[in-house]
Amino acid sequence: MQRAGANAVKAMIDDVIVEKLDVEKIFSSSKRTFRIADLGCSVGPNTFVAMQNITDAVQLKYQSQGFASQMPEFQVFFNDHASNDFNTLFASLPPERPYFATAVPGSFHGRLLPNFSLDFVYSSYALQCLSKVPEELLNKNSAAWNKGRVHYASAPDEVAQAFTTQFAKDKTAFLDCRAKELVVGGLMVLMPGIPNGIPHSSSLTGGIFDFLGQCLMVDTFNLPVYFASPKEMTRLLERNECFSIERMEITLPYARADGLIVQACAMHLRAGMEGIISKHFGVEIIDELFDPFCKKEEEFISMLESKYNEGDQLFIVLKRI
Ligand SMILES: C[S@@+](CC[C@H](N)C(=O)[O-])C[C@H]1O[C@@H](n2cnc3c(N)ncnc32)[C@H](O)[C@@H]1O
Repeated sequence: MQRAGANAVKAMIDDVIVEKLDVEKIFSSSKRTFRIADLGCSVGPNTFVAMQNITDAVQLKYQSQGFASQMPEFQVFFNDHASNDFNTLFASLPPERPYFATAVPGSFHGRLLPNFSLDFVYSSYALQCLSKVPEELLNKNSAAWNKGRVHYASAPDEVAQAFTTQFAKDKTAFLDCRAKELVVGGLMVLMPGIPNGIPHSSSLTGGIFDFLGQCLMVDTFNLPVYFASPKEMTRLLERNECFSIERMEITLPYARADGLIVQACAMHLRAGMEGIISKHFGVEIIDELFDPFCKKEEEFISMLESKYNEGDQLFIVLKRI
């Protein structure tokens, strides 16, 4: 599913590199190495496809600008939490890759690299992850006590507000750090999010997490994820002032809601949430938990269809100014 999301924006990234990457500026200000980071890269292989696409597009851009004889070398920084299985990632690196590979373990909510060390930042399906669950959700006496749910999608306003505030704190820290690490003129491509003006409960991601919540039915566990709208992201970016918004749009990466999508959604959720859920409940429940998705296929498809046309992937391109 993440691959479908990345494929859906490949052409958009190619366009962005053609239109927005100021090769001359980057070339003259820096060096002969073009540095790319994938933040929240996981264990592959999606990251390899994305990094290949970006290096291909940058090479084409250098050629078209008359810098073919001075093609830079590429370095890719693969970032994820230190607990990520970097061994699997590095053992499966494509042998013919056009870049030098470097691991950067640590949270992207903090600094990862020295000042001005990146020309291009890519992050796919990772920015929705919060640094923690807002504390008030676990307090029985708080208006934000999230009884019987694992997510804010269909929760009272106080719950959603606590998530919104946590997201704003985390992403402010994220933007501050990237503003230091990106060179002036460097680009950053981020996704996903939700459309403007629809309640969280009506979004595709909201529906999926509600569905998971109905399978879990617990009071003390919440998923530390939040999907922001273009409006929310714009507000955070205006406060930061180090980036111009070059592109921001909602895309719909999946062609149809059918049995394949149910399987893909279950795998998508399992890939992203298995670690957090098994840490809280133990690994024994995982197979059983994700099984209902397929057992309730009809119900799940009709939920997906009812929310489907909205699009669920926010594609953002920022330039360091
Ligand atoms: C759903 S996966 C997406 C993986 C990959 N980008 C893709 O599109 O297939 C989200 C990844 O983000 C990572 N992640 C979440 N929060 C992070 C953080 N604060 N710093 C670095 N990585 C993080 C997770 O560990 C996980 O590997």
